[in-house]
Amino acid sequence: MKYFLHLICALVVVNGCGRNDEINRLADRVFSLAKIQYEQMNAALGEGEFPKCTDSEGNLVTSDAGWWCSGFYPGALWYIYEYTGDETFRDLAWKHTRRLAVLKDRETDHDIGFQINCSYGNGMRLTGDSADVALYVECARILAGRFTEETGVTKSWNFLRNDWRYPVIIDNMMNLEILTKAAEISGDKSLQDIAVRHAQTTLRNHFREDWSCWHLVDYDPETGTVRSKETVQGYSDGSAWARGQAWALYGYTMMYRETGIEEFLEAARNIGNMIMGRLPEDGIPYWDFDDPAIPEALKDASAGAIMASAFIELNTLTGDSHYLKTARRQLLTLGSEEYLAKPGENAGFLLKHGVGNIPGGTEIDVPLSYADYYFLEALVRYSKITSEE
Ligand code: GLY
Repeated sequence: MKYFLHLICALVVVNGCGRNDEINRLADRVFSLAKIQYEQMNAALGEGEFPKCTDSEGNLVTSDAGWWCSGFYPGALWYIYEYTGDETFRDLAWKHTRRLAVLKDRETDHDIGFQINCSYGNGMRLTGDSADVALYVECARILAGRFTEETGVTKSWNFLRNDWRYPVIIDNMMNLEILTKAAEISGDKSLQDIAVRHAQTTLRNHFREDWSCWHLVDYDPETGTVRSKETVQGYSDGSAWARGQAWALYGYTMMYRETGIEEFLEAARNIGNMIMGRLPEDGIPYWDFDDPAIPEALKDASAGAIMASAFIELNTLTGDSHYLKTARRQLLTLGSEEYLAKPGENAGFLLKHGVGNIPGGTEIDVPLSYADYYFLEALVRYSKITSEE
């Protein structure tokens, strides 16, 4: 372990990173801005509303607790509290986190993982408050209830389009963290087993030869046979939708951290190498790596932020500085004038230029709550590795 830490520190020095490097200075700047922006957002939100994106006039668009993104605003408030230590933000974070308690009594899908883990998960991690442990574990069990032995995966969506019978999307990898964490808290190992099975089945069925992945795999619920492979939110079924690749990278990195299973680390490395080989110069991916309109196609800040956070963790887990270099490049671009809002603009969001769902015609070239969340997470992660120096 000691050797491992020395190795990390040595690599940090080799990279020219340190407590006062440009990313740390960027982090100070971003978290000062975040306090302004996120307080503005808090004032603009009605009871039970969560920030979603902006409309064509740049006004804030909100959702209710049921939208898959409702956990990201409270989660971002937790990162602001973690970085700045400002207790106003701890109180704000609890206020918005606890508005998600309604989810346990509603019809939900796999996104209950994002919703509850980003909010309650961070709250419990940072405060040690155990008041909500039962709710957290209950929500993990709701997600686990979507798993079947026949398929070896948890079902993602409730709605069925085309002729889907049991659709599973790559995004679902992100929702395994609530299972592993709840297993640790409750001692119920079956939750961890489900997470591992889901990740293993996904590894077999979601990836192409080049380590890019499909967005959606549909299973036969009776036999577990794969019925179709599609890319619903990307350019085409055969294309590499950028956020899907980001979820895959982050998901397998996180599952290696949570389980120590080597095949997950190998997958994360392979996905990471594929992404690094395809990123444009500034590190922020086009919304789909295969959009023929590139270089005129839109970039997706959210995919860039998710990748940056995952690459920092992959560097921490492997000591491989290529990942950290890529993350630094991504963070510097996201911190530039092109992407980062000025105080008071962007309806309280930090980042501009996110792409939600082009085929669905929604959230195109707008700020997105999850772009901000993973950007802040990446900066917190970065500040932790450089403070070990
Ligand atoms: N999880 C949905 C998306 O990435 O758009």
